[in-house]
Amino acid sequence: MAANEESIPLLPGQISIGNSGSGGSSGSAGSGGLARNTASELAGPVAEPEERELEAALRPKNLDDFVGQERVRKQLGLVLAASKIRGRSADHVLMSGPPGLGKTTLAMIVAAEMNAPLRISSGPAIQHAGDLAAILSSLTEGEVLFLDEIHRMSRPAEEMLYMAMEDFRVDIIVGKGAGATAIPLELPSFTLVGATTRAGLLPGPLRDRFGFTGHLEFYSVAELELVLRRSAGMLDLRLTSAGFSEIAGRSRGTPRIANRLLRRVRDWALVHGIESIDARTASAALDMYEVDARGLDRLDRSVLQALVNKFNGGPVGLSTLAIAVGEEPETVETVAEPFLVREGLLGRTPRGRIALPAAWEHLGLKMPGNAVAAAMLPFEEEPREG
Ligand SMILES: Nc1ncnc2c1ncn2[C@@H]1O[C@H](COP(=O)(O)OP(=O)(O)O)[C@@H](O)[C@H]1O
Ligand SMILES: [Mg+2]
Repeated sequence: MAANEESIPLLPGQISIGNSGSGGSSGSAGSGGLARNTASELAGPVAEPEERELEAALRPKNLDDFVGQERVRKQLGLVLAASKIRGRSADHVLMSGPPGLGKTTLAMIVAAEMNAPLRISSGPAIQHAGDLAAILSSLTEGEVLFLDEIHRMSRPAEEMLYMAMEDFRVDIIVGKGAGATAIPLELPSFTLVGATTRAGLLPGPLRDRFGFTGHLEFYSVAELELVLRRSAGMLDLRLTSAGFSEIAGRSRGTPRIANRLLRRVRDWALVHGIESIDARTASAALDMYEVDARGLDRLDRSVLQALVNKFNGGPVGLSTLAIAVGEEPETVETVAEPFLVREGLLGRTPRGRIALPAAWEHLGLKMPGNAVAAAMLPFEEEPREG
């Protein structure tokens, strides 16, 4: 661990744990890095702030209520059951996967199943090792510490975390330069639950210190129907089976989106005085909100339309494509493209973005011969994560 990470010179009698709260913001801990919802976007995977409370109400509280993700659920269940038998706090757990699939939910479930208190913080909130030291030193025996977006923690904090995870101990550095001393601090045993959308960005040593890693996958339509049934029960809504599948099919494999679409359909039904929501109601409502049968929203479709209509299917560079749809390149790349790529609608090649045959088909167009040739270009190597 670096000895110079506490940069505030000490006055006599001052302890340098946690130099937060000084109001100084070093680097924006704001929105960088993650996909954000644009104002118009209903089908984005990231929760809006005002949505958090609604989500909290729908969160499954234990493993049995958690729908789908069979493998992760079984494995995590075993880890927790074993530690209960041993009477110890559970191994550290890492949850990785795209936004909206249940990482935060599972972190809370870990605490609930272990009957342990839960402390929540996140990578971006921990800018200095001192911030982490302050959190760690105030944990109680057996507590679960949830660190969201753990890949965005600062390096010095990360190094402090290694030791804390392994030995339940940290060294608090007091003083600066030659006079600096490390004061060892024993920690109570705790369980760290980390969550990340970018497991590939986690340094190996950190990844290795988790006893269990759960990779969350996109949900099948059938699983999303179960999520929706559960939510509808809690919101006291009536839907037909076809109504559930209609919404599930437009939810991009993501429970967060499924629940959000359900709320919009509920609003529509309420205004139209409809008591039981069938497929027609659901599709009319979602058509109005511009979420199409495949879950594409307005931005997704305008990207595809630009590619196809203005560039004959490409290849076209990201920035040109972004200008054509009137968005920032980052928005196109982080908000629209991941889903379009996953659906086999758009390809990324070394020469630019291309529309794949399914895109033409989805827009009801016939793919011209020269566009077929362009679609044969080799794809860019995507760095594999996890
Ligand atoms: N397996 C699941 N079963 C039921 N609801 C789920 C499930 N996974 C996620 N959800 C719902 O989706 C929303 C987002 O989940 P969350 O855990 O916040 O996702 P993440 O942290 O991965 O972005 C929550 O409101 C939660 O109720
Ligand atoms: Mg989360």
